[in-house]
Amino acid sequence: MSAVAERRTARLLLRGFRGDDLEPLAALNADPAVMEHLPGPMTLQDSAAQLARFRQHWEEHGFGWWAVEVPGVAPFIGWVGLARPRFEAHFTPCVEIGWRLAAAHWNQGYATEGAREALRFGWALESPRLEEIVAFTVPANHRSRRVMEKLGLLHDPRDDFEHPRLLPGHPLRPHVLYRIRRGPA
Ligand SMILES: CC(C)(COP(=O)(O)OP(=O)(O)OC[C@H]1O[C@@H](n2cnc3c(N)ncnc32)[C@H](O)[C@@H]1OP(=O)(O)O)[C@@H](O)C(=O)NCCC(=O)NCCS
Repeated sequence: MSAVAERRTARLLLRGFRGDDLEPLAALNADPAVMEHLPGPMTLQDSAAQLARFRQHWEEHGFGWWAVEVPGVAPFIGWVGLARPRFEAHFTPCVEIGWRLAAAHWNQGYATEGAREALRFGWALESPRLEEIVAFTVPANHRSRRVMEKLGLLHDPRDDFEHPRLLPGHPLRPHVLYRIRRGPA
């Protein structure tokens, strides 16, 4: 069983999820602007199950999604972190990096700042030692793609894929994949 490794950045506290995060998490997951490029919106029950899965992931893998707090500004603005996708595709098994923040806090560099710390954390893991981290989204999610690019992830159109969790024909099914490899030691 692994405890959540808390991390601090210049402006953020990346911490384990708490029970009182459920309300703002559910609000985030119910916001059509946040969910524009994601299947949803999600119900309170969906969010409660998600929070439980997030905690479980840390216990199983020793890494996972952090709750993002901005000390002095907001106790919970969303999440960022690393995870093992639960579906199979041509690039799995793999570790993905991802983010989801409340719209009131967009465009201040928070996702990039948190994700940079997540990458540092990922490369420092000894078990599993990661050689590559991926990210994926729908082609139209330009905000998320911009974060991937700022972090140095690269897109090869030959990696584009159909998300297996969505039915053929679903508008969110086509995905772009970005990758970043471990740098020289
Ligand atoms: C994606 C997301 C996490 C980004 O968070 P953020 O804290 O605003 O990200 P940052 O501020 O670090 O960077 C955002 C970048 O996108 C750019 N951007 C914003 N709106 C944009 C748009 N419509 N088109 C293109 N780029 C855009 C910003 O200018 C910024 O780039 P810059 O630093 O070069 O100016 C946030 O928008 C979000 O939670 N979206 C909804 C959930 C989601 O889609 N998650 C990802 C699923 S794969």
